[in-house]
Amino acid sequence: MDTNLKLLMDFIFGTLPWVTYATFLFGISLKLYTWFSTSPPSRTVPSSISRTPISAESIRLTIGQFIYLLLFQGRFIKPKAKSFVLWLMSFSAHISLFLILFGHLRPIGVWSASWFAWMASEQFLTRDLPFYLGWVVLGGFSLLLVRRVVDRSVRSISGFDDYFLLAILITIFLAGNMMRVSPYIHESFALRISPSIVMQLKETPSLIWLAVHGIAAQVLIMYMPFSKLFHIIASPFTILAYSIRHGRLYGGMKT
Ligand code: HEM
Repeated sequence: MDTNLKLLMDFIFGTLPWVTYATFLFGISLKLYTWFSTSPPSRTVPSSISRTPISAESIRLTIGQFIYLLLFQGRFIKPKAKSFVLWLMSFSAHISLFLILFGHLRPIGVWSASWFAWMASEQFLTRDLPFYLGWVVLGGFSLLLVRRVVDRSVRSISGFDDYFLLAILITIFLAGNMMRVSPYIHESFALRISPSIVMQLKETPSLIWLAVHGIAAQVLIMYMPFSKLFHIIASPFTILAYSIRHGRLYGGMKT
């Protein structure tokens, strides 16, 4: 490997991750501090509310809220063709993104394609599927960006955060896809990420695109706690807190 490229890779995957972890943890701590220092004083639960039994109804409501969140039903505001298309776009792009991120855990050794041999061939799971999903996410998120720019009502409520997030995500997807379509060197490659993550790739992808991908991915991770993407981490906790606050997990009113 060219010495300058090696230095660049060492910086991106050896040094930068420490800045990424520190910024991410700082952001999360700041968020938690702001939440706790501004949350309203806790009220004592009236004696008319039973604390002990977790009623079937309360569990049903909580599960319902999670399904609502997972299926992106918030996007389905009105039963109109436009909101259905928007829902379909968001849903397929997010599911693809989830599968892609899950796919990233395989070269790290978290799972193996042989576990899913009953479902599809290794070639399909590790090459064809990620390739197609990569273009689905890139297409889906690019359309979301176009919609934000073109649709006047969406544009009027869009800020820097929205555009920056979409731009950084699109850069990550584009660089990821470019790694897939650029010629590989037919030699295995071990990508070491600080402190001790090793991504074992069967072939060496374009290192320039890998560098762009690595920088953009880390910018996203650093920015996450300060952005709207924080909902990914916060949503499960928000739903539970909401359910508890509304007495759903207390089993409702005593009769
Ligand atoms: C520092 C963290 C990351 C590293 C080291 C990394 C590494 C890689 C590598 C090596 C590939 C190409 C795989 C191959 O050609 O065999 C890839 C592809 C890809 N990555 Fe990442 N990635 C990271 C973070 C992310 C993040 C955070 C996202 C999404 C938000 C993402 C989305 C993608 C996409 C869409 C592709 C193309 C489709 C695919 O190969 O799955 N990556 N990544």
